[in-house]
Amino acid sequence: MKTTTVPSTSAPVAHNAMPPPPAASTARSSRVAPHSHIKGLGLTPEGLALPDGAGFVGQTNAREACGVVVELVKSRKFSGRALLLVGAPGTGKTALALAVSHELGVKVPFCPMVGSEVYSTEVKKTEVLAEAFRRAIGLRIKETKEVYEGEVTELTPAEAENPLSGYGKTVSHVIVGLKTVKGTKQLRLDPTIYEAMLKEKIVVGDVIYIEANTGAVKRVGRSDAYASSYDLESETYVPLPKGDVHKRKELVQDVTLGDLDAANARPQGGQDIMSVMGSLIKSGRTEVTEKLRKEVNKVVKGYVDQGVAEVVPGVVFIDEVHMLDIECFTYLNALLESPMAPTVILATNRGNAIVRGTTDVVSPHGVPVDLLDRCLIVKTDTYNREQIAKVVQLRANVEGLKLGPGVLERLAEEGERGSMRYAIQLLTPASILSGLAGRNQIEVDDIGEMNELFLDAKASARNIGSDGGFDGGRM
Ligand SMILES: Nc1ncnc2c1ncn2[C@@H]1O[C@H](COP(=O)(O)OP(=O)(O)OP(=O)(O)O)[C@@H](O)[C@H]1O
Ligand SMILES: [Mg+2]
Repeated sequence: MKTTTVPSTSAPVAHNAMPPPPAASTARSSRVAPHSHIKGLGLTPEGLALPDGAGFVGQTNAREACGVVVELVKSRKFSGRALLLVGAPGTGKTALALAVSHELGVKVPFCPMVGSEVYSTEVKKTEVLAEAFRRAIGLRIKETKEVYEGEVTELTPAEAENPLSGYGKTVSHVIVGLKTVKGTKQLRLDPTIYEAMLKEKIVVGDVIYIEANTGAVKRVGRSDAYASSYDLESETYVPLPKGDVHKRKELVQDVTLGDLDAANARPQGGQDIMSVMGSLIKSGRTEVTEKLRKEVNKVVKGYVDQGVAEVVPGVVFIDEVHMLDIECFTYLNALLESPMAPTVILATNRGNAIVRGTTDVVSPHGVPVDLLDRCLIVKTDTYNREQIAKVVQLRANVEGLKLGPGVLERLAEEGERGSMRYAIQLLTPASILSGLAGRNQIEVDDIGEMNELFLDAKASARNIGSDGGFDGGRM
């Protein structure tokens, strides 16, 4: 459980939030993503891959290589380089990249995209790439601000007659009592701050701070004194703040250069960097010009030189990189060589292919050789039956499915014959069949029936005649 007093980007769940919905409806609404069993790279502290760990089975070489990249990114020594993951479909390239992002933690930006995302009718291809790169460079801003901090001991809105209507009453001000180890203080606050407090669901017993000059309220967590004896809880408990209620406090906030660009493309009052961040608007695509980026860079450089901010290079992950075209590749070369470049991870399942945007340039993985030259290339291996069985079992656990005797072996066999993804894919539909038959676990027969209903890629390919059509329409 986190006990940091630094405001985290993911707001803590308020203790007085609505209770979680009953289990039945959660089960129905929660969606299990294809990679939700992957929790990390599963490496030992020495950087060696366990045969299976953190949801990752086998692929030890590639995992160890990714582990090295994680270390390099963390020690900020990998900028301007690229890691290229190559391997057959379904061998875990995307899973590896996600594991890297887990290992880096939330503080290091990770910006995933798919090659085909660059083809937008509104924005230039190179612009999409540039933006992804900016989103992968973090900025940790430390600011000392005047705040009132403490545990809420009192929260009393004072009401007054509403001058606009004869009936209702409005809040004229609010009295808030704050307590620290050193003392207590009673504040008389503006009703807008009261609204902010209601929004943050602040109640007596919470530790909060209020910024003195903006009135922004932040809930740090629940005071230790109110800690309950539950074993598992979503609440963050924090100790009673030290020092005076009214003090100067160092606040840390993480943003990316992309956030700053976007915020400045639509400036909304406020000159200091924090208020710029406060006005972040997430909706809509706005034009970010090269000139604006330079301006932002200049401001950022100023802050870095003053020691107010620190640059945290992150990772851009471009999946299906063979979808980029020659224009994008040359731009990528340039981006890689710029002084403030994040780490780049590329993935592709192509062998030799024509580079998109050219008619005759054939290159390994459809990536031009000059870019390949800048890459460390890591290959993912295909899986054996035993490994496929392990992954299928992991998926069954994640999806909450029970497997009858022999099912795992059967699915592993299917996986070896078709592909691992096909074997994993069979799980959920097979559970529907078993459910229809009134059983709560998947039996070998369900898999058999699935094979009659559906084809795997290879079986489907066998139906296609040499002329590329279906055999005499005899399907
Ligand atoms: N070593 C592994 N351990 C556990 N799960 C794995 C492993 N490799 C792959 N998977 C799982 O198998 C599925 C397919 O893998 P993934 O999507 O990463 O393949 P890919 O290499 O990106 O394929 P493609 O080239 O088609 O994009 C995913 O659900 C992934 O989480
Ligand atoms: Mg993939």
